Amino acid sequence: MKTAVITGASSGLGVDFLRAVVHNYPEIEEIWLIARRKERLEKLAEHYENVKIRAVGLDLAAEDSYGQLRELLEKEKPQIRILVNNARVCKSGSFGGRTLDELFMMVNLNVKGSTAVARLCFPYMSKGSIAVFTSSVSSFAPIAGQGVYSSTKSYLTYLGRALHEEWKREGIRVCVLCPGNMATEMNPIDVERASKSKIGKLPYLDTRKVAAETLKRAEKGKACYTPGRFYLAYKIAGKILPHSFMMKLNRL
Ligand SMILES: NC(=O)c1ccc[n+]([C@@H]2O[C@H](COP(=O)([O-])OP(=O)(O)OC[C@H]3O[C@@H](n4cnc5c(N)ncnc54)[C@H](OP(=O)(O)O)[C@@H]3O)[C@@H](O)[C@H]2O)c1
Repeated sequence: MKTAVITGASSGLGVDFLRAVVHNYPEIEEIWLIARRKERLEKLAEHYENVKIRAVGLDLAAEDSYGQLRELLEKEKPQIRILVNNARVCKSGSFGGRTLDELFMMVNLNVKGSTAVARLCFPYMSKGSIAVFTSSVSSFAPIAGQGVYSSTKSYLTYLGRALHEEWKREGIRVCVLCPGNMATEMNPIDVERASKSKIGKLPYLDTRKVAAETLKRAEKGKACYTPGRFYLAYKIAGKILPHSFMMKLNRL
């Protein structure tokens, strides 16, 4: 069955990826939505009657979820036409101000979880499939105050770029999405915070447009997509300026 798999589908950008897949890919027969809050996924499924939606409740930061995903894939043998590897978590704040559990949760989900999803889904993808890896502008330079998150995002950007080259041989197109601010559960618009923090003053992207445009770029074979001129300029700065300078700019 022609299938789309979207992780982190219970809120924010993942919901807009679902919308974009439903509207732009009528040939997709089944969509798997993965996140911890299964009831949210089931509610979302109710909005779309013309496509089969499977709500898969998994905690991708937990080791046992990889076995569960493997079993489901082996049982259903989907033809994965679209993979959106999007579930992540961000806990900002000083390194010492976070517990080890919080730091490990970010590493487990953002690094281990996304690697597991890509590796487990790979055998079910084929020529013509696309894969999106949601990374972040945080991957362009280290960020003091977001050390673990920006490190995990830099891992994702590297992994996605490497797989873009590696999977070309199989005809699978991988696109790394590197967005800046988006008003989601992870980063809600907060007027009070915006007046105090640098990050809150930066432009917010339209998640609907980001999701739809990312799929288009992935279809065209683009390796990386950074939406918005401001963030593109930041990406270029990250390529030409030393990290020591970038870190003075981006310090939270
Ligand atoms: N918002 C921004 O400003 C921004 C900027 C740059 C990049 N990004 C990236 O954009 C992507 C989407 O984030 P978002 O902004 O849409 O944030 P969001 O609304 O908080 O969505 C995060 C999604 O990840 C899922 N998730 C979290 N922990 C999980 C776990 N342990 N196992 C499975 N799923 C888990 C959440 O679902 P459950 O809670 O139900 O599990 C949710 O569906 C992320 O990769 C994020 O890093 C966001």
